[in-house]
Amino acid sequence: MVDPNTLLHYTNVFDAMLDAVYVALKNLNVSAAVPVLVTETGWPSYGDRKEEPYASRDNANTYNSNLIKHVVTDKPGTPMRPGAQASVYIYELFNEDLRPGPVSEANWGLFHGNGTPVYLLHVNGTDGFLGNDTTDRTFCIAADDADEKAVQAAMDWACGPGRSDCTAIQPGQGCYQPNDVRSHASFAFNTYYQSQGKAGGSCYFQGAGMVTTTDPSEYFLFINSDAYR
Ligand SMILES: *[C@@H]1O[C@H](CO)[C@@H](O)[C@H](O)[C@H]1NC(C)=O
Ligand SMILES: *[C@@H]1O[C@H](CO)[C@@H](O)[C@H](O)[C@H]1NC(C)=O
Ligand SMILES: *[C@@H]1O[C@H](CO)[C@@H](O)[C@H](O)[C@H]1NC(C)=O
Repeated sequence: MVDPNTLLHYTNVFDAMLDAVYVALKNLNVSAAVPVLVTETGWPSYGDRKEEPYASRDNANTYNSNLIKHVVTDKPGTPMRPGAQASVYIYELFNEDLRPGPVSEANWGLFHGNGTPVYLLHVNGTDGFLGNDTTDRTFCIAADDADEKAVQAAMDWACGPGRSDCTAIQPGQGCYQPNDVRSHASFAFNTYYQSQGKAGGSCYFQGAGMVTTTDPSEYFLFINSDAYR
């Protein structure tokens, strides 16, 4: 949108909020040389299914990936202050499972408390964010937060119209144990995911699937603070 007062053109609310701060500082006669930091910005990956439908892994991944791209690789700065890039901090590294309040409050993290990733934040075109490139060793499993009916429906799709070979999870076959919906679905989801060459969206399953790595302990986040400045 175009700001009718300044005629500056905005493509995102992040820039508009920063410029609002710059205008406020200017009105208070604060020198433009005073650095501005964005100390918290992010998106929750999970929330109350009725009240907070936009708190989802997909949206969190989209927001944080676009944020990094915008801050690190796009033309830096805002329409009002082109070239002047504020330092930006993602909120937040870990989920805070004991946080009270709306469900989303406990779900802003890139990682669960036990160190496994909530979603795989792929940062392309920038070095220094993800330490280990797990692109080639990702797997698709049933999401912890998806309900069992959704997981079952997605498995039925994967083994039916999705044409995954689900022989191995039939009774008596090698992957029948453990015999529960999530384990079977994870097999079916991953078979489909691999058959699609791990294409974007092929682990979605209406939110019932999630991308992961086999050995989450190898997965670590490496934040090179220089990349943010
Ligand atoms: C900012 O500076 C102008 C010009 O010197 C002055 O009129 C105004 O009162 C100042 N505003 C504040 C908030 O100090
Ligand atoms: C990463 O960026 C390169 C160069 O811009 C592009 O060729 C490649 O397809 C991108 N990879 C992914 C996974 O987006
Ligand atoms: C991840 O990085 C660590 C430290 O560099 C290394 O020891 C480990 O082998 C890497 N894991 C993979 C899967 O590349």
